[in-house]
Amino acid sequence: MEIIRNPQELQNLSLMLRGEGKTIAIVPTMGFFHEGHLKLMDAARKQADVVIVSLFVNPTQFGANEDLDSYPHDLERDSKLAEERGVDILFTPTKEDMYHPDHSTWVEVPNLAGNLCGQSRPVHFRGVATVVTKLFMTALPHIGIFGEKDWQQLAIIKRMVRDLNIPVDVQGHPIVREESGLALSSRNVYLTDEERKHAPMIQKGLIEMKALVDKGENDALKLKNALTEFYEQNIPGSAVDYIEIVHPDNINVLEKINGPALCAVAVQLGKARLIDNLLIKV
Ligand code: PAJ
Repeated sequence: MEIIRNPQELQNLSLMLRGEGKTIAIVPTMGFFHEGHLKLMDAARKQADVVIVSLFVNPTQFGANEDLDSYPHDLERDSKLAEERGVDILFTPTKEDMYHPDHSTWVEVPNLAGNLCGQSRPVHFRGVATVVTKLFMTALPHIGIFGEKDWQQLAIIKRMVRDLNIPVDVQGHPIVREESGLALSSRNVYLTDEERKHAPMIQKGLIEMKALVDKGENDALKLKNALTEFYEQNIPGSAVDYIEIVHPDNINVLEKINGPALCAVAVQLGKARLIDNLLIKV
């Protein structure tokens, strides 16, 4: 596995590889790998000749009071894990490599970024869309692989690629969970043992909501209230950031469920802000 820090060097290499007829897949990440990241690398390995993983804690997607400075990192461990999964190139630029001091161009998808995580993190998706565009322009992949854990992010990237005619096949892959049901996240390291015991209830509540939908309940407000109550009772010390039912493609809030619907939640538990989601109707 080759580690490349310089964006220009990666772009030159990718141009050469494309010239040789090789297919390239990229898995964009912020590092501190867990099985969720590694499964995306496996999916890339199955489909492409060359697998690029980017590891960049992108400052522009963090708000002023968020965890940019404390975001977990361990490059040595990550390099080893990526190599074991057959990754060809680990792209690890610095923030200076990625952003000029007078960087002034942004990619925004406001129609899909106004609610859910976009509401509590107003600059977040502008940062994500911009950095993913830059990664696509640098690595020149045929395929871009993302996790459904960040469903809104995936929907935004799909829309961005469509709207800007970016020739990348954007794929979403299922959420990888602990046996307990807790979705894997680099931020789970912030949880205390006690919080970890209750965190699986986040998914449990989503499954119960789906059961209500399957039984015929289609009033979003009633469903959201039931889930709020479930979290209050089952996750002590938690604070719901949002519980929302949206259309899975355009992220519009739904009042009645009579077609495809996704329930997305963000719950603050101690120092960790945990997100999860479930398709409650397809
Ligand atoms: P990061 O949080 O490191 O996640 C990298 C990729 O792994 C994302 O596509 C995310 O959805 C996926 N992922 C994380 N946890 C997962 C899980 N439990 N199951 C399945 N997939 C999972 O998301 C980002 O980084 C950044 O916003 C990025 C896209 C790299 C832009 O900076």
